[in-house]
Amino acid sequence: MTSPEKPQADRFPNGSDAFPHKHLLGISGLQPWEILYILDQAEEWVALNRSGASKHDDRLAGLTIINAFFENSTRTLLSFEIAGKRLGADVVNMHAAQSSVKKGETLIDTAVTLNAMRADAIVIRHGSSGAVQLISEKVDCPCLNAGDGQHEHPTQALLDALTIQRRKGPIERLTITICGDVLHSRVARSNIFCLKQLGAEVRVAGPPALLPDALDRFGVETFSNFEEALPGSDVVMMLRLQNERMNGDFIPSPREYFHLYGLEEARLALARPDALVMHPGPMNRGVEIASNVADNLDRSAINEQVEMGVAVRMACLDILTRKARRVEGWS
Ligand code: NCD
Repeated sequence: MTSPEKPQADRFPNGSDAFPHKHLLGISGLQPWEILYILDQAEEWVALNRSGASKHDDRLAGLTIINAFFENSTRTLLSFEIAGKRLGADVVNMHAAQSSVKKGETLIDTAVTLNAMRADAIVIRHGSSGAVQLISEKVDCPCLNAGDGQHEHPTQALLDALTIQRRKGPIERLTITICGDVLHSRVARSNIFCLKQLGAEVRVAGPPALLPDALDRFGVETFSNFEEALPGSDVVMMLRLQNERMNGDFIPSPREYFHLYGLEEARLALARPDALVMHPGPMNRGVEIASNVADNLDRSAINEQVEMGVAVRMACLDILTRKARRVEGWS
């Protein structure tokens, strides 16, 4: 069994308390070694997940995890569910469409209700930025942010970092270009925090209307011309046009968007010859990415991102429930 045990004190400065946070609300505020610690632990869960028939490690047996999803999701919800089950926990999914939220219950009342059920961890996706933080203040157990509005999506950034690190080696040496609807993207925000903390050069490209003004503060270089951002890029990360968050028209038409910002073969050829293509999904084929680029397994890590998602979420659930499980060496 190669599943993660206690942190190795020599590699992580805080010894047995390598991840001292109760919740995982965002990447902002995490130290580089805390991020690397999660990636290190996730790496071992990748090994377990690939090990064959039995993918079980029942260290969370007896614990209850609630996935409270107030927004639609396919891969994030499924992978949190699989992660919890592989660790032996009882996993319950709450979909907002079937919950009392539809009857007008406030977020705080929902949080208090979840708390009364004595969950050991709550995974939350919500359409409002800050909603997960609000719930975390009302419950006793660890909360994991599975995406809150336009704010953060920390496990997506962690699984992206794990994917990049496995394919390209240490992130500090890399140039990573993120292209698309950055303005509405919690994936972009969390990735910018994560990749900058790990020392990467981060470039951001997209139509000016979809690039937030404050990007300079994050230490990234911005490009309204995607083709100018690509030379020297080791990784090209495409983002979905988040139409559901757009108030009015931000782009003239999907066709025109693809013409200027879509990742197709000729454009990818401007990046490094071995540049890795990423997309968090769900993809709009022919809008932000061409099918032959997305499906080129030599270049595209899109399926690997999904695989890494399970391992990263196993690592996060394990780490955040250690105190509840009174794992030896943890205060
Ligand atoms: C992202 C999300 O929901 O923020 N998807 C995901 O988690 N896999 C990105 C998106 O919806 O475009």
